[in-house]
Amino acid sequence: MKTFPSKNIRHVAVIMDGNGRWANEKKMPRSAGHRAGASNVRRVVDKFKNIGLKYLTLYAFSTENWARPEHEIDTIMELLVSTANNQLADLDESNIKIVHIGDKMGLDPKVKRSIETCEDITRDNTEMTLCIAFNYGGRAELLNAIKILLSDPNIKDHPDEELIEKHLYTHNIPDPDLIIRTAGEMRLSNFLIWQSAYSEYYSTETLWPDFDEHEIELALHAYKLRTRKYGTISE
Ligand code: FPP
Repeated sequence: MKTFPSKNIRHVAVIMDGNGRWANEKKMPRSAGHRAGASNVRRVVDKFKNIGLKYLTLYAFSTENWARPEHEIDTIMELLVSTANNQLADLDESNIKIVHIGDKMGLDPKVKRSIETCEDITRDNTEMTLCIAFNYGGRAELLNAIKILLSDPNIKDHPDEELIEKHLYTHNIPDPDLIIRTAGEMRLSNFLIWQSAYSEYYSTETLWPDFDEHEIELALHAYKLRTRKYGTISE
Protein backbone atom coordinates (compact mmCIF):
# COMPACT_ATOMS: atom_id res chain seq x y z
CA MET A 1 0.00 0.00 0.00
CA LYS A 2 1.23 3.46 -0.82
CA THR A 3 2.33 5.37 2.28
CA PHE A 4 1.18 8.95 2.33
CA PRO A 5 3.19 11.76 3.88
CA SER A 6 2.26 12.91 7.35
CA LYS A 7 0.79 16.35 7.87
CA ASN A 8 4.33 17.62 8.26
CA ILE A 9 4.89 19.57 5.15
CA ARG A 10 7.59 18.47 2.70
CA HIS A 11 6.60 19.96 -0.64
CA VAL A 12 4.92 23.28 -1.41
CA ALA A 13 4.10 24.22 -5.00
CA VAL A 14 3.21 27.78 -5.94
CA ILE A 15 1.27 29.15 -8.91
CA MET A 16 2.81 32.62 -9.11
CA ASP A 17 -0.04 34.77 -10.40
CA GLY A 18 -0.77 38.48 -10.51
CA ASN A 19 2.37 40.09 -11.92
CA GLY A 20 0.34 41.84 -14.61
CA ARG A 21 -2.27 43.11 -12.14
CA TRP A 22 0.48 44.32 -9.80
CA ALA A 23 1.92 46.41 -12.64
CA ASN A 24 -1.53 47.63 -13.76
CA GLU A 25 -2.32 48.86 -10.25
CA LYS A 26 0.86 50.91 -10.36
CA LYS A 27 0.26 52.13 -13.92
CA MET A 28 3.43 50.37 -14.96
CA PRO A 29 4.04 48.10 -17.96
CA ARG A 30 3.40 44.36 -17.45
CA SER A 31 7.14 43.76 -17.82
CA ALA A 32 7.68 45.69 -14.56
CA GLY A 33 5.28 43.28 -12.87
CA HIS A 34 7.27 40.30 -14.13
CA ARG A 35 10.50 41.92 -12.96
CA ALA A 36 9.01 42.46 -9.50
CA GLY A 37 7.76 38.87 -9.60
CA ALA A 38 11.18 37.51 -10.47
CA SER A 39 12.74 39.56 -7.62
CA ASN A 40 10.27 38.02 -5.21
CA VAL A 41 11.41 34.48 -5.99
CA ARG A 42 14.47 34.72 -3.75
CA ARG A 43 12.53 36.07 -0.76
CA VAL A 44 10.09 33.16 -0.99
CA VAL A 45 12.81 30.55 -1.52
CA ASP A 46 14.69 31.81 1.56
CA LYS A 47 11.61 31.77 3.75
CA PHE A 48 10.67 28.21 2.81
CA LYS A 49 14.26 27.07 3.24
CA ASN A 50 14.37 28.67 6.69
CA ILE A 51 11.32 26.76 7.85
CA GLY A 52 13.02 23.54 6.73
CA LEU A 53 10.91 22.75 3.67
CA LYS A 54 12.56 20.11 1.48
CA TYR A 55 10.82 20.76 -1.88
CA LEU A 56 9.54 23.99 -3.35
CA THR A 57 8.08 24.13 -6.86
CA LEU A 58 7.40 27.41 -8.67
CA TYR A 59 5.19 27.57 -11.78
CA ALA A 60 7.03 30.15 -13.86
CA PHE A 61 5.92 29.46 -17.46
CA SER A 62 3.20 27.15 -18.69
CA THR A 63 2.82 25.51 -22.09
CA GLU A 64 -0.22 27.81 -22.50
CA ASN A 65 1.82 30.96 -21.81
CA TRP A 66 3.20 30.79 -25.40
CA ALA A 67 -0.11 32.38 -26.42
CA ARG A 68 0.98 35.67 -24.80
CA PRO A 69 2.38 38.55 -26.88
CA GLU A 70 5.90 37.88 -28.11
CA HIS A 71 7.48 40.78 -26.22
CA GLU A 72 6.01 39.51 -22.94
CA ILE A 73 7.33 36.01 -23.60
CA ASP A 74 10.75 37.53 -24.33
CA THR A 75 10.66 39.39 -21.02
CA ILE A 76 9.88 36.22 -19.06
CA MET A 77 12.61 34.26 -20.88
CA GLU A 78 15.15 37.02 -20.22
CA LEU A 79 14.13 37.18 -16.57
CA LEU A 80 14.61 33.46 -16.16
CA VAL A 81 18.11 33.65 -17.64
CA SER A 82 19.13 36.77 -15.70
CA THR A 83 17.71 35.44 -12.43
CA ALA A 84 19.55 32.16 -12.98
CA ASN A 85 22.81 34.04 -13.71
CA ASN A 86 22.45 36.35 -10.72
CA GLN A 87 21.27 33.80 -8.18
CA LEU A 88 23.03 30.58 -9.11
CA ALA A 89 26.22 31.02 -7.05
CA ASP A 90 24.29 32.06 -3.98
CA LEU A 91 21.67 29.33 -4.29
CA ASP A 92 24.49 26.82 -4.69
CA GLU A 93 26.23 28.27 -1.63
CA SER A 94 22.93 27.78 0.25
CA ASN A 95 23.03 24.08 -0.69
CA ILE A 96 19.87 24.36 -2.81
CA LYS A 97 19.41 21.90 -5.65
CA ILE A 98 17.71 23.32 -8.75
CA VAL A 99 15.59 21.00 -10.87
CA HIS A 100 13.63 21.86 -13.99
CA ILE A 101 10.25 20.32 -14.78
CA GLY A 102 8.74 20.81 -18.21
CA ASP A 103 9.75 20.49 -21.84
CA LYS A 104 13.33 21.71 -22.31
CA MET A 105 13.32 20.88 -26.02
CA GLY A 106 10.76 23.58 -26.76
CA LEU A 107 12.96 26.31 -25.27
CA ASP A 108 15.42 28.66 -26.91
CA PRO A 109 18.94 27.12 -26.65
CA LYS A 110 20.13 30.01 -24.46
CA VAL A 111 17.31 29.44 -21.97
CA LYS A 112 17.81 25.67 -22.08
CA ARG A 113 21.55 26.08 -21.43
CA SER A 114 20.93 28.39 -18.52
CA ILE A 115 18.55 25.88 -16.90
CA GLU A 116 20.95 22.98 -17.50
CA THR A 117 23.84 24.91 -15.97
CA CYS A 118 21.77 25.48 -12.82
CA GLU A 119 20.90 21.78 -12.69
CA ASP A 120 24.49 20.63 -13.27
CA ILE A 121 26.10 22.93 -10.72
CA THR A 122 23.58 22.26 -7.94
CA ARG A 123 23.10 18.54 -8.64
CA ASP A 124 24.58 17.32 -5.33
CA ASN A 125 23.02 19.91 -3.04
CA THR A 126 20.87 18.57 -0.25
CA GLU A 127 19.26 21.34 1.81
CA MET A 128 16.22 21.98 -0.38
CA THR A 129 15.14 21.12 -3.93
CA LEU A 130 13.87 24.11 -5.89
CA CYS A 131 11.82 22.90 -8.80
CA ILE A 132 11.23 25.39 -11.59
CA ALA A 133 8.23 24.53 -13.78
CA PHE A 134 9.11 26.24 -17.04
CA ASN A 135 7.43 25.38 -20.33
CA TYR A 136 5.47 22.99 -18.13
CA GLY A 137 2.01 21.54 -18.76
CA GLY A 138 0.46 18.73 -16.75
CA ARG A 139 -1.34 17.21 -19.74
CA ALA A 140 1.82 17.31 -21.87
CA GLU A 141 3.69 15.65 -19.01
CA LEU A 142 1.13 12.84 -18.79
CA LEU A 143 1.02 12.40 -22.55
CA ASN A 144 4.80 12.15 -22.62
CA ALA A 145 4.72 9.44 -19.92
CA ILE A 146 1.97 7.52 -21.76
CA LYS A 147 3.92 7.61 -25.02
CA ILE A 148 7.01 6.21 -23.30
CA LEU A 149 4.98 3.41 -21.72
CA LEU A 150 3.23 2.54 -24.98
CA SER A 151 6.56 2.36 -26.80
CA ASP A 152 7.82 -0.34 -24.44
CA PRO A 153 6.41 -3.75 -25.46
CA ASN A 154 7.18 -5.17 -22.00
CA ILE A 155 4.95 -2.75 -20.16
CA LYS A 156 2.43 -1.38 -22.63
CA ASP A 157 -0.24 -3.91 -21.65
CA HIS A 158 0.10 -3.55 -17.89
CA PRO A 159 0.89 0.02 -16.88
CA ASP A 160 0.45 0.93 -13.24
CA GLU A 161 0.65 4.11 -11.15
CA GLU A 162 4.29 3.55 -10.26
CA LEU A 163 5.26 3.21 -13.92
CA ILE A 164 3.42 6.39 -14.82
CA GLU A 165 5.08 8.27 -11.96
CA LYS A 166 8.46 6.99 -13.06
CA HIS A 167 8.05 8.81 -16.37
CA LEU A 168 6.73 12.12 -15.07
CA TYR A 169 9.09 15.12 -14.94
CA THR A 170 8.67 14.97 -11.17
CA HIS A 171 10.09 11.45 -10.81
CA ASN A 172 11.76 11.19 -7.36
CA ILE A 173 10.01 14.32 -6.11
CA PRO A 174 7.21 13.71 -3.57
CA ASP A 175 3.73 14.92 -4.44
CA PRO A 176 2.98 18.46 -3.24
CA ASP A 177 1.37 18.65 0.20
CA LEU A 178 0.20 22.19 -0.43
CA ILE A 179 -0.49 24.15 -3.59
CA ILE A 180 -0.63 27.93 -3.17
CA ARG A 181 -2.05 30.24 -5.82
CA THR A 182 -1.67 34.00 -5.55
CA ALA A 183 -3.91 36.73 -7.00
CA GLY A 184 -7.18 35.15 -5.88
CA GLU A 185 -7.65 32.62 -8.65
CA MET A 186 -9.11 29.18 -7.85
CA ARG A 187 -7.74 27.16 -10.75
CA LEU A 188 -5.01 24.58 -11.14
CA SER A 189 -4.25 25.70 -14.72
CA ASN A 190 -2.70 22.44 -15.91
CA PHE A 191 -0.24 22.42 -12.98
CA LEU A 192 0.86 19.07 -11.47
CA ILE A 193 -2.50 17.53 -12.34
CA TRP A 194 -1.41 13.96 -11.53
CA GLN A 195 0.71 14.88 -8.53
CA SER A 196 -1.92 17.10 -6.87
CA ALA A 197 -4.48 14.31 -6.40
CA TYR A 198 -4.30 14.71 -2.61
CA SER A 199 -2.74 18.16 -2.27
CA GLU A 200 -4.28 20.79 -0.08
CA TYR A 201 -5.12 23.97 -1.98
CA TYR A 202 -4.71 27.53 -0.73
CA SER A 203 -5.59 30.71 -2.57
CA THR A 204 -4.73 34.24 -1.49
CA GLU A 205 -5.80 37.58 -2.98
CA THR A 206 -2.24 38.84 -2.59
CA LEU A 207 -0.46 39.37 -5.91
CA TRP A 208 2.74 37.40 -6.45
CA PRO A 209 5.19 40.34 -6.16
CA ASP A 210 3.68 41.12 -2.73
CA PHE A 211 3.62 37.52 -1.51
CA ASP A 212 6.03 37.78 1.43
CA GLU A 213 7.12 35.95 4.58
CA HIS A 214 3.93 36.88 6.44
CA GLU A 215 1.78 35.56 3.57
CA ILE A 216 3.73 32.30 3.72
CA GLU A 217 3.04 32.04 7.47
CA LEU A 218 -0.68 32.51 6.76
CA ALA A 219 -0.66 29.77 4.11
CA LEU A 220 1.20 27.38 6.40
CA HIS A 221 -1.18 28.13 9.24
CA ALA A 222 -4.18 27.37 6.99
CA TYR A 223 -2.50 24.10 6.00
CA LYS A 224 -1.99 23.11 9.65
CA LEU A 225 -5.73 23.42 10.24
CA ARG A 226 -6.59 21.01 7.44
CA THR A 227 -7.38 17.34 8.03
CA ARG A 228 -5.84 15.15 5.37
CA LYS A 229 -7.82 11.97 4.92
CA TYR A 230 -6.76 10.52 1.56
CA GLY A 231 -10.21 8.99 1.17
CA THR A 232 -10.21 7.38 4.62
CA ILE A 233 -12.13 8.51 7.70
CA SER A 234 -9.15 9.57 9.80
CA GLU A 235 -5.68 10.88 9.15
C1 FPP B 1 1.76 35.26 -13.71
O1 FPP B 1 1.36 36.60 -13.69
C2 FPP B 1 3.19 35.15 -13.90
C3 FPP B 1 3.79 34.54 -14.96
C4 FPP B 1 3.05 33.89 -16.04
C5 FPP B 1 5.23 34.53 -15.13
C6 FPP B 1 6.03 34.28 -13.89
C7 FPP B 1 7.43 34.58 -14.18
C8 FPP B 1 8.30 35.13 -13.33
C9 FPP B 1 7.98 35.49 -11.95
C10 FPP B 1 9.68 35.47 -13.82
C11 FPP B 1 10.62 34.35 -14.12
C12 FPP B 1 10.67 33.21 -13.17
C13 FPP B 1 11.68 32.85 -12.36
C14 FPP B 1 11.59 31.56 -11.61
C15 FPP B 1 12.88 33.67 -12.16
P1 FPP B 1 0.38 37.12 -14.83
O2 FPP B 1 1.17 37.78 -15.88
O3 FPP B 1 -0.50 36.02 -15.30
O4 FPP B 1 -0.44 38.18 -14.02
P2 FPP B 1 -1.94 38.68 -14.31
O5 FPP B 1 -2.82 37.46 -14.25
O6 FPP B 1 -2.18 39.65 -13.21
O7 FPP B 1 -1.93 39.31 -15.68
